[in-house]
Amino acid sequence: MLLGEAEKTQVTKKMLSAMVGTLALAGATLAADATIADVEQRSGEVGQRDSEVGQLSAEDGVYTDEQADRGERAYEIECGTCHGADIRGGETSISLMGRDFMQYWREESLGILYGIIQETMPEDDPGRLSDRETVDLIAMMLRANLLPAGDEELEPDQEMLFEIRLTAATAQ
Ligand code: HEC
Repeated sequence: MLLGEAEKTQVTKKMLSAMVGTLALAGATLAADATIADVEQRSGEVGQRDSEVGQLSAEDGVYTDEQADRGERAYEIECGTCHGADIRGGETSISLMGRDFMQYWREESLGILYGIIQETMPEDDPGRLSDRETVDLIAMMLRANLLPAGDEELEPDQEMLFEIRLTAATAQ
């Protein structure tokens, strides 16, 4: 994970704990007082495994349109009140699409995004999204960010999601 200095400060405690939970699920062991550097190091290890199996990215068409439609319906019920009916953010929360979102997530794996959504969202009642709803929501977000649909659904398998980066391109 290559976060810039400015981006590092955006990593909230909540996100950090979600990442720690996520990485623990991936088989990594982290001390409870893990620092951002620890998390980065661990994600680096996950990343290294990525390059061994070949770099898969969400640009390769990793969800279906039908799945993104389901995600949109879940979004309207669970997320729209805060993130905006058009996904561009509201007064109390940030946009889940567009340049800032892509800049921030481009080099992350979908596994990290999955862990963060499942453990911290919806912010007012986290932890109640099913595995299936969570990947459907990711499919909806990928489509909103103009990443292409494909023939196979994104599966709620976090090990596999760790192998898929949001974009193949490396940030400048
Ligand atoms: C009660 C308001 C609220 C609801 C409902 C909500 N969110 Fe959020 N969300 C936030 C706030 C506030 C942040 C940013 C601060 C934070 O990380 O805690 C955020 C951050 C996020 C992020 C991190 C974005 C980034 O670029 O760092 C994602 C992803 C996300 N939300 C997805 C969702 C999804 C998917 C749902 C629906 C299941 C949802 N949220 C529902 C308030 C909400």
